[in-house]
Amino acid sequence: MSNNNELKQDIRTEQDIELMVNSFYDKVNQDALLSYVFNDFSKVDWDTHLPKMYRFWNTLIFGAQSYKGNPFAMHIPLPVEAKHFERWIALFDKNMDELFAGEVAEETKLRAKSIAHVFQSKLAYLKN
Ligand code: HEM
Repeated sequence: MSNNNELKQDIRTEQDIELMVNSFYDKVNQDALLSYVFNDFSKVDWDTHLPKMYRFWNTLIFGAQSYKGNPFAMHIPLPVEAKHFERWIALFDKNMDELFAGEVAEETKLRAKSIAHVFQSKLAYLKN
């Protein structure tokens, strides 16, 4: 837990989700291990990816149903293993704790972790 939790608020609005997503991918871009996958391997178009991730998290957190897609399929070709998922989760949690505190924030960290674990085990199954 970080300090000043009493000053932080829970995730409540779409603007909160945009802030969470933007600052999470700022961290990803500063992380050599993950930035390689997004920027060098996948050459992600951030102008497309970030709004897609707003829709993804709005759908999960607020039931917006604005995200349509098959997230797992996008990860099959990626050069990722356990250490990438561990880093992804660590940055996701750190980012959340820096910005928000509350039930929705905690639930969102759990959802992210659980999806990460599903992706990781499906990938391990496909690649072995
Ligand atoms: C090792 C960890 C991960 C890496 C390196 C990674 C990387 C990527 C990359 C490169 C893309 C494709 C972007 C593009 O070409 O437009 C992508 C898409 C996506 N990722 Fe991840 N990802 C990871 C984990 C996760 C997790 C845990 C989640 C969910 C909690 C997630 C959700 C998504 C979604 C929703 C998309 C968009 C799929 C679509 O196009 O509909 N990713 N990710």
